[in-house]
Amino acid sequence: MFLSVKGLAKSFGNNEVLKNIDVEIKEGSVLSIIGPSGSGKTTLLRCLNALEQPDKGIFSFSDGLIINFDNKLTKKEILQLRRKSGMVFQSYNLFPHKTALENVIEGPVIVQKRNKAEVEELARELLRKVGLEDKMNLYPHQLSGGQQQRVGIARALAMEPQLMLFDEPTSALDPELIGEVLRVIKDLAKENWTMVIVTHEIQFASEVSDHVIFMDGGYIVEQGKPEEVLKHPKEERTKQFLDRILNPA
Ligand SMILES: Nc1ncnc2c1ncn2[C@@H]1O[C@H](COP(=O)(O)OP(=O)(O)OP(=O)(O)O)[C@@H](O)[C@H]1O
Ligand SMILES: [Mg+2]
Repeated sequence: MFLSVKGLAKSFGNNEVLKNIDVEIKEGSVLSIIGPSGSGKTTLLRCLNALEQPDKGIFSFSDGLIINFDNKLTKKEILQLRRKSGMVFQSYNLFPHKTALENVIEGPVIVQKRNKAEVEELARELLRKVGLEDKMNLYPHQLSGGQQQRVGIARALAMEPQLMLFDEPTSALDPELIGEVLRVIKDLAKENWTMVIVTHEIQFASEVSDHVIFMDGGYIVEQGKPEEVLKHPKEERTKQFLDRILNPA
């Protein structure tokens, strides 16, 4: 087990967005999260990455790090938690005035204070890995959405996280660009990266995931192997959700 999450709760004002959630993330496995808009998927990812501070809950990592949210986190704990994972956003969030290469180099050099020459070599390797060897010196506005998102993936990888988090990485893309991004994520899965992916791509989720969670209203309604949850769901709400996605009116 890479990370065990117990009793995670998060409210915004009176809005209870995550209600006592337990999640287990196995080392080297892919966990996909599906569920309707507003069910708390992004909030869960943001909690995992310390972009959001939960109200309650305990994170236990395999290396012995334990974070208890019942107490307000120290700066050190927030940094420890943030360093564990890399996040890929729906909207890419690249720096517009930096090239693809500079976007990938920025975090490791500025935040992690790593050696610039070494980071640049790693960044070139990562951009090659995501199929952008000939686009390294272009600016985001000169790249397609799919290319920008692949820069976003390379940028997250450059921080050398133990866990990769993807929040609907293809939902802002034109249909013909979705495949190239999903392929990169599948390659990472083959390399046994530990990943959590929020996605509406049901076919992709069923191919890439080891475990699937269906969330609704701040709860985990159903979870299991992809063929169970996605092909033979037990819960009515899961069935309705999948039916809406797979058979849009
Ligand atoms: N920073 C915030 N302040 C106040 N409310 C928030 C904030 N972030 C999220 N929420 C609320 O939390 C709920 C869950 O939002 P969240 O973004 O986690 O849903 P989601 O499952 O990712 O939805 P989607 O599929 O549309 O991305 C929503 O009701 C949302 O309005
Ligand atoms: Mg979301």
